Amino acid sequence: MAGLSAADAAAIHLRPGTLQLGTQPQLALYVHLAWCLKKCPYCDFNSHESKGKVPEARYLDALMADLESALPLVWGRRVSSVFIGGGTPSLFSPQGIDRLLADIRARLPLEPGAEITLEANPGTFERERFRAFRSAGVTRLSIGVQSFDDAMLQRIGRVHDAAQAHAAVAEARAAFDTFNIDLMYALPGQTLAALQQDLDAALAYAPPHLSVYHLTVEPNTVFAVRPPVLPDEDLASDMLDLISARVAAVGLQRYEVSAYARAGHRCRHNLNYWQFGDYLGIGAGAHGKLSFPHRVLRQVRWREPAAYMKCALQGQAVSNEYEVSRRELPFEFMLNALRLREGFELARFAERTGLPLSALQAPLAVAEARGLIERDDAGTVVRPTPHGFNFLSDLQALFLPPAAAGAQDR
Ligand SMILES: C[S@@+](CC[C@H](N)C(=O)[O-])C[C@H]1O[C@@H](n2cnc3c(N)ncnc32)[C@H](O)[C@@H]1O
Ligand code: SF4
Repeated sequence: MAGLSAADAAAIHLRPGTLQLGTQPQLALYVHLAWCLKKCPYCDFNSHESKGKVPEARYLDALMADLESALPLVWGRRVSSVFIGGGTPSLFSPQGIDRLLADIRARLPLEPGAEITLEANPGTFERERFRAFRSAGVTRLSIGVQSFDDAMLQRIGRVHDAAQAHAAVAEARAAFDTFNIDLMYALPGQTLAALQQDLDAALAYAPPHLSVYHLTVEPNTVFAVRPPVLPDEDLASDMLDLISARVAAVGLQRYEVSAYARAGHRCRHNLNYWQFGDYLGIGAGAHGKLSFPHRVLRQVRWREPAAYMKCALQGQAVSNEYEVSRRELPFEFMLNALRLREGFELARFAERTGLPLSALQAPLAVAEARGLIERDDAGTVVRPTPHGFNFLSDLQALFLPPAAAGAQDR
């Protein structure tokens, strides 16, 4: 869309098409802050070592130029949640976060009581800022603890130690009404007993929300080049059983593959992704998904922070943008919706994709026959069975577009 004004580009997305989306879903805002003190050896997120200096003011200017260019795509819509993710957003000063949120509020109407999450790492100087982040308007802190074991933290290349992790969680608990702890499991050399200790440590803080991720070795990371010795599949599966049992015993419900929450503390922002809602993503490498009456648009911003800042300040933050094709929409919807323990209402499929339910019928029947999904009594809600949840990627793969189908129906 280079060369077009933002308003003209937006008008193009309103032209007729073959999808029929009756209503627009909830809209969320994701803001990517792309720096970290040091790159972790397992991480493939768009994060860059700060080398002591984050160009905070210029990046905030770029974010606002980015948002302003995107506004015509979301005219008249309210934002239900904001997620400031990274990278390590807590490297930004509280004044910077205050300015960011004020600048967002000046341009986009936030729903009253909107959830505003900020990802934080457990360094000492960051902990001292938690209350100031709260005063700036952040309502929910997500702390990347990973483990409470010093030896393990070293093995996975974290810059913080266990004492800092404890201090950070204690401070988050004191300063915020709701917060999340990120843990990882199936870590190098980890035993069930070691995981048990990590869970004990995390649960001692009675966290309203816990995310526990299976460590994955991603391509192009240090761990991919020099793989550590990891627990085998059987041990990893026993670990997941241990996690499920321990967290259920303290009243945290597994509502998504990796997410556990007490009643009223589910992450509204992430739920919106899994329910195939809309989100505008601003910042280096940020992804977005926006619905129009006849199409679903995906956008990606320039990935390198320097290139992103330069282009965003010229009104060209988007590096790639495309319509999701009719044949890919069922898979994209199911990839998200099947992550939820409670599944989804069938009516939501047509509402979010603009496709008739018949587009889903054949793979749905296969999944049901294989015992991977089930319906509620009324037959209107589809959810993964416990078996389907354990073999989620096999289940999701049933909804991949047929390989033989041509590109003519895009
Ligand atoms: C976007 S990261 C940012 C959080 C923060 N920078 C941190 O690392 O503390 C969010 C979470 O993803 C998880 N994560 C990152 N890389 C992972 C990997 N390779 N496998 C599993 N989980 C991963 C970690 O638990 C991390 O806290
Ligand atoms: S601190 Fe978080 S985002 Fe940064 S490199 Fe480590 S895992 Fe990735």
